[in-house]
Amino acid sequence: MRPLLFVLGMLVLASCSVSRPAEDATGEEIYQQLCANCHASDLSGGVGPPLGPGSLSASESDEFLEFAIMNGRGRMPSFESSLNEAQLDRLIDYIREVQGQ
Ligand code: HEC
Repeated sequence: MRPLLFVLGMLVLASCSVSRPAEDATGEEIYQQLCANCHASDLSGGVGPPLGPGSLSASESDEFLEFAIMNGRGRMPSFESSLNEAQLDRLIDYIREVQGQ
């Protein structure tokens, strides 16, 4: 019984850490945890469009990025329940940094 509970506990912990970055995670950590699967770890794109230098997102406003991230877009899920305001700001700062802006 005990080992089973332990395994279940670990699974719950693991699934939480996938959907919710640490409170003090950097923008890069948040990106790698939540976004890299679909947009690639270097923002060059994959399942989702590229987000790096020269991409559509590079020419769009912060509000556009916020809207896409918090509401979801097409096949992209909403991250409203995973990110607070400060984390969202750090994430967008990181994306801007990689875009060279
Ligand atoms: C499950 C895959 C997936 C994940 C995870 C994901 N995205 Fe996306 N994202 C997509 C897809 C697919 C689109 C294109 C949506 C459409 O227009 O149909 C997209 C679109 C976008 C757009 C709009 C760009 C454009 O050119 O239309 C932005 C900005 C974006 N994603 C940022 C992020 C960020 C930041 C994260 C992490 C918080 C993230 N995405 C996580 C799949 C994903």
